[in-house]
Amino acid sequence: MKIVHTLPELRAALAAYRHPAVVPTMGNLHAGHIALVKAAKPLGDVTLATIFVNRLQFGPKEDFATYPRTLEADCAQLAQAGCDIVFAPSEAELYPQPQGFLVQPPVELANILEGEFRPGFFTGVATIVMKLLSCTQARSAVFGKKDYQQLMVVRQMVQQFAMPINIVGLDTLRTDDGLAMSSRNGYLNASERQQAVLLSQTLKALANAIRSGRTDYAALEADAMATLRNAGWQPDYVVARRRVDLQVPQPDHPGEALVVLAAAKLGTTRLIDNLEV
Ligand code: PAF
Repeated sequence: MKIVHTLPELRAALAAYRHPAVVPTMGNLHAGHIALVKAAKPLGDVTLATIFVNRLQFGPKEDFATYPRTLEADCAQLAQAGCDIVFAPSEAELYPQPQGFLVQPPVELANILEGEFRPGFFTGVATIVMKLLSCTQARSAVFGKKDYQQLMVVRQMVQQFAMPINIVGLDTLRTDDGLAMSSRNGYLNASERQQAVLLSQTLKALANAIRSGRTDYAALEADAMATLRNAGWQPDYVVARRRVDLQVPQPDHPGEALVVLAAAKLGTTRLIDNLEV
């Protein structure tokens, strides 16, 4: 496996290939990322992972400075998974000047849910993903469905900019107790780690209620928020949304494909999760 840090090195490493399959990451890799790499392998003639903690997608009070940088351990896992190239640029390499050109996703997608609680987040994500897909000459790229809204932003961006890239979404990998794998799980202490399963359990209960035919979404969402609050969480949202555009479902349109999504803080750690209904 080649590890490259600069754009000239990356271009040289890619010269012999026509169909890079790319997994963009911020490092601090876990089994969920490794599943993305394994899914990418059959999609191209070379498999590439990027590791870059993207300042643009962090809010001023978020964990950019403390986000774990674990390049050596990440590369060991990637080599084991059969990754061919790792692109791990410095900030100076990727943002040699302040990034003046930004990719602004449509507000109806970017300012709801995660975007409401993390203003500017999806502009930061879309801008870096555009840049990474361009640098790596990606022809396929794999993202986790755990970041459901992010995947939708990336899909729409690639479609609207007519980028010839196949975007693949992979189901969320979970631990035995159901917790969605996430780099931020590492912030949980032992007691929080035990309680963390409540997030996926709450979403499961909400999804099951909808599957059983209930369409009183607002009441169901309020119950789910109360479940988390009563257990000491600080939920930002627990909602049922249409899969197609993440807008509020209409109770008189049963049969629409839905997804339930949640974001909540346990102690100082903010976790997100979702389930397709
Ligand atoms: O999901 C992530 O790890 C990041 O948002 C991404 C897609 C690598 C962009 O920085």
